[in-house]
Amino acid sequence: MASLFPASDRCWLGGPGSVELAHWQLEVDGADDGLVTIARDHALLVRRHGGAEAGYGADGGASGMLRVEQVAENGPPEGFEILTPEPGRVVVRAADRRGLVAGFFHVWNRGPGAVSAGRHRPATAIRMLNDWDNMVVDAMGSVERGYAGPSILFSGGEMVDDLSRFRDYARLLASVGINALCLNNVNVNDVETTLVTDRLDDVARAAAVLREYGIACYVAVNYAAPLTVGDVDTADPLDDGVRAWWRATAERVWGRIGDFGGFVVKADSENRPGPFRYDRTHVDGANMLAEAVAPHGGTVFWRCFVYDNHQDWRDRSTDRARAAADHFAPFDGQFADNVVLQVKFGPIDFQTREGVSPLLTRLRATHVAIELQITQEYTGQQKHVCYLPELWRDALDTEIGWETDGGPRLYETVGVHTGRHNGFVAVSNVGADPNWTGHPFAQANLYAFGRLAWEPSLTAEELAHEWLRATYAVPDAARDELAALLLGSWQTYEAYTAPLGVGFMVTPHTHYGPSVDGYEYTPWGTYHFADRDGVGVDRTVATGSGMIGLYPPAMAARYETLDACPDALLLFFHHVPYGHVLHSGSTVIQHIYDSHFAGVEQGEAMIRRWHGVRESLPSEVSAVVDVRFAEQLRSAIEWRDQVNTYFWRKSGVPDARGRLIHR
Ligand code: GCU
Repeated sequence: MASLFPASDRCWLGGPGSVELAHWQLEVDGADDGLVTIARDHALLVRRHGGAEAGYGADGGASGMLRVEQVAENGPPEGFEILTPEPGRVVVRAADRRGLVAGFFHVWNRGPGAVSAGRHRPATAIRMLNDWDNMVVDAMGSVERGYAGPSILFSGGEMVDDLSRFRDYARLLASVGINALCLNNVNVNDVETTLVTDRLDDVARAAAVLREYGIACYVAVNYAAPLTVGDVDTADPLDDGVRAWWRATAERVWGRIGDFGGFVVKADSENRPGPFRYDRTHVDGANMLAEAVAPHGGTVFWRCFVYDNHQDWRDRSTDRARAAADHFAPFDGQFADNVVLQVKFGPIDFQTREGVSPLLTRLRATHVAIELQITQEYTGQQKHVCYLPELWRDALDTEIGWETDGGPRLYETVGVHTGRHNGFVAVSNVGADPNWTGHPFAQANLYAFGRLAWEPSLTAEELAHEWLRATYAVPDAARDELAALLLGSWQTYEAYTAPLGVGFMVTPHTHYGPSVDGYEYTPWGTYHFADRDGVGVDRTVATGSGMIGLYPPAMAARYETLDACPDALLLFFHHVPYGHVLHSGSTVIQHIYDSHFAGVEQGEAMIRRWHGVRESLPSEVSAVVDVRFAEQLRSAIEWRDQVNTYFWRKSGVPDARGRLIHR
């Protein structure tokens, strides 16, 4: 079971495009064997689930010829050209293997009858997924922050023997333009530390699968590996023994896997070892690893999620939102050419809404990848519908205003300074669940991330329609309804959870469901400071932590004053009294009540909309969605009531509309 690409009709690869393609003859010319294998796999896939054709009323589709051909001239890396010389004939042309794969899937996802002629190339070089899969189930599970079942790659301390499900995953990723995958959790435990030493054969097996789909293989490494599995008694990056150990390790890794991508590193972060332990900087640490992998063409992804997680909540001088910029911005330009700094889009931690990371505005001479989270750790854990492209668009469209107020937008800045090694990384949301993502609609987030990384200007609406079209063969009206369910779901989720950008009112550890004060007196630096008079975090330069001053001046001016700061981020940047009047005209306390009542009502409206369209989807999909919507509504009500009661008790201010707030 697990080895089959499950129910092709529920996944975009088996959507209408593939049904249509089944009627097309596929011709491959000049491509290497690998691509032929891809094509053959897909043909098999369609045959294997041939029943879907009848089940989905495919009309037999137009038949024709899809030709995939490798051309000798130098095209842009990974780019491809589509030609439609005559009806019923589509030609995909590319100069390299990845271009051929990308072009093939471009046609596959849309169906050959729906593509038009044109040239395509990715806007970014890095389009990477990080799997947070553990080899051994630890306190965080088989997949850390995974909500779709156990790992598809590891089980019981080993890589699984049968990689056919992993192969399906690789195909899924390639079909949306992902070109790099890190196999294991960034929190690297003892067993995973040996992936780059004793377990290289396993990594080579996974890399071979990924290679077929044009995806580079990466491994997350333990910064202290020379000390823990090597024969060196330190992990000091300036120690000769440490440098030699990593050089020898890199030689073995690339000796075994010639096209290996490189390492992902979480250092000095949430109790992980790192250069700070030896009074060294992150430049010392990252460049030491970069030097070891450089002769092999390897890349080091160095995560910037570095902050003090042993903070004393009484200490008002420390602000976690400053940490990444404080640690890394001073070193802009000093990282080696094969280091990519991997920076979470927000300065705290993948919250429903945050200001963008100031570090992203400060790295102008360093390769950067913006890190997003597809797995819904803080956004409903794949029990709630929360369509993330809207959140991502909101962050990526933020105007950075380097020189003057306004543009460029954050997504337009990726790579403008340093060219090639830039792009997007995201934490995957996939597990062994038959539908891959737990909630069938959470697939949309995975699909959208790949497409957005390839073409960062795509709108949330375009992406929703694309995914639906590639996934479910339903009438246009039903597809519009399904798109309407996705669109706005992030704002709905935001409405019934933490208000006005303040974040982190989640249950500690699990991060699911409300616990308004759950993190308030912890060492994690995630506070909202609610008291009887007001709420929010003062990050102003004038009176607060000064975090706003880490942005370029024109951007800082947009957040520093209450007059300028947008409502949606008010409590992220300011501490205000409950009676403070928002730009919307409402007070903060009334907004809290109104948005929480409205959030639940919007959730109910989503369910009504769902009931109108559920019959158009396969019954096994609808059954899962039904159960998840019931939980979403239960949870939304719990959020509403806890948050409203909490703020009523704190403020003593009644709801102006007299609705039920529990005492
Ligand atoms: C969050 C998450 C952790 C994860 C960390 C990271 O804090 O809760 O599980 O390890 O992010 O991104 O490294």
